[in-house]
Amino acid sequence: MRVPSVFVLALLALALIAVAPAVETARSVDVNTIENAAGERSDAPLVDPEGSIVCFVVRTYWGHGDTWGDKSLRRILASLQNQTVESWEALLIVMDNRPFPELRKIVREANDSRIWVHAEWINYKYAPKEGGTWAPNYHNKLYNLTDMAVRACPDNSRWVVITNGDNLYDRHFVETIYSAPPDVDAVAVDFYSRYQRPTAEPCERFEEGDGVPPCKENGMRFCQTDLAANAYKLERLLAEDRRFGLVDPGGTHGANDGIMAQLLKTAGWKRNSPTSKGRASGAQA
Ligand SMILES: *[C@@H]1O[C@H](CO)[C@@H](O)[C@H](O)[C@H]1NC(C)=O
Ligand SMILES: *[C@@H]1O[C@H](CO)[C@@H](O)[C@H](O)[C@H]1NC(C)=O
Ligand SMILES: *[C@@H]1O[C@H](CO)[C@@H](O)[C@H](O)[C@H]1NC(C)=O
Repeated sequence: MRVPSVFVLALLALALIAVAPAVETARSVDVNTIENAAGERSDAPLVDPEGSIVCFVVRTYWGHGDTWGDKSLRRILASLQNQTVESWEALLIVMDNRPFPELRKIVREANDSRIWVHAEWINYKYAPKEGGTWAPNYHNKLYNLTDMAVRACPDNSRWVVITNGDNLYDRHFVETIYSAPPDVDAVAVDFYSRYQRPTAEPCERFEEGDGVPPCKENGMRFCQTDLAANAYKLERLLAEDRRFGLVDPGGTHGANDGIMAQLLKTAGWKRNSPTSKGRASGAQA
């Protein structure tokens, strides 16, 4: 996706954020076991008995489709459908100058009422690139649309996760969010990126290195986080009228995600306790 970020080039191809927290702790909500289609009680997904959900705002475009893209949209949707906790919905938004004709088909074939298209803005005005470089307002425009989508999350949304169609979630991701203590406002999980060089200067961290990248610690700070790896309490986000589209006025590099994370942290948003145990223990940072 044409993702606003200071790591613009890197994030362009940031195809894989596999958020892989291992959850060992007891769940903070009681969960019901449901039966899967085959009637077996296996790894059947669990629901939040209070009926709340995680609202995923998925920013996508034709480049995530099957024919002209990398087929990533199907993958992220499958990774959501694979969640151990099924209390989520996904709103899809598109803003581009090129249509995404396969979008409806992909959503239809996912055959899941939790997945729906919220906005499909196709217009020459939304061209991401102009003459090979990012159109000056593209990132902020997309973040403005993102802010609108956040406000369209269903009423029972407790959390919001803003992501891009080429990311991928570990199946315990939603479960991890629900495992956070009740007073937590932001769940920040560590993440993988193909474009990572943890030993480099922070802002170069997404540059491609050799081999498989290690899990990146989510610092909820500029250059040390990723849009898709944070879940925010929707109620507080709305009460404080936080808008990604406004945190970097005139900004062209799209670092809105890191700026927002840092703003919230500075404003005293309580995040899940960092463990810094890293990948081995699957800690949620
Ligand atoms: C979904 O779960 C199945 C079964 O565990 C697994 O084979 C598949 O790779 C998962 N798909 C995604 C996209 O996570
Ligand atoms: C879609 O899902 C419904 C209910 O989960 C199921 O009954 C139906 O067979 C599915 N349709 C397709 C085409 O898979
Ligand atoms: C984003 O929305 C704000 C108002 O909410 C507006 O002032 C700003 O111009 C918009 N940004 C772009 C790039 O359209």
